[in-house]
Amino acid sequence: MKSLIKRTLVIVAHVMVLPAVAACLALRAAGGKDTAITGWSQAFSLIPGTPGVLLRQAFFSWTLARCGRDACVSFGTLFSHSSAEVGNSTYIGNYCSIGDVQIDDDVLIASHVSIMNGCRQHGIGRLDVPVREQQGACEPITIGCDSWIGERATVAASVGRHCVIGAGALVLSPIPDYAVAVGVPARVIKDRRHLTDPISDSRLDPPTQLALSPGESSTAG
Ligand SMILES: CC(C)(COP(=O)(O)OP(=O)(O)OC[C@H]1O[C@@H](n2cnc3c(N)ncnc32)[C@H](O)[C@@H]1OP(=O)(O)O)[C@@H](O)C(=O)NCCC(=O)NCCS
Repeated sequence: MKSLIKRTLVIVAHVMVLPAVAACLALRAAGGKDTAITGWSQAFSLIPGTPGVLLRQAFFSWTLARCGRDACVSFGTLFSHSSAEVGNSTYIGNYCSIGDVQIDDDVLIASHVSIMNGCRQHGIGRLDVPVREQQGACEPITIGCDSWIGERATVAASVGRHCVIGAGALVLSPIPDYAVAVGVPARVIKDRRHLTDPISDSRLDPPTQLALSPGESSTAG
């Protein structure tokens, strides 16, 4: 019964977002590729509670490159590129900023996390041209499955699978699979395959710590 209600709500949400999807796709076709997703993701980010989670999942499943089944995008979170991907059962907390990023399945992203395409969006080599006009580079960024990005982390390089990025970390270079990395800049302090400390083990136990239901404001926020 519960899953029938849920399926019905998902279908209702998909129907409700269709006018916005049509407007977004029309703007994109008219040449405003990322302008369209930026504006519409700002509008959808303001819808509170479970309706917001359902409507955002429905809207982004049509307008991002991928927004997987049971993905939860929380209040205040913004996307700037329609090429971004969000995997199945991935949770993104409140007030995150997501660039052109491929986020795999079962990823947990706490609140106030920024994921950006490297740190060289603008060149800084010339003084006769404003920084905003100097060409830079956008690095492709991926976040591997089952990784957990802590509160207020800033991620500017790819994160492997099954990683943990500590709260407040600044990720400037790629993080290998299974790594626990913390600090500014982030450095690897542990390998999840070799954890023996009971506190770490219990903290990383998915059923107790990582299961956040869609719409829940999260311990992260
Ligand atoms: C990364 C994390 C999981 C590490 O937990 P842990 O494996 O139990 O780590 P420990 O407590 O054993 O700490 C190991 C070392 O890393 C340091 N450390 C841990 N977390 C840190 C962080 N976020 N930033 C900087 N240093 C950190 C500790 O001070 C310790 O340093 P020391 O060896 O010099 O004393 C945890 O600290 C963390 O940041 N979790 C994210 C929490 C969060 O954002 N929750 C939001 C809700 S989802």
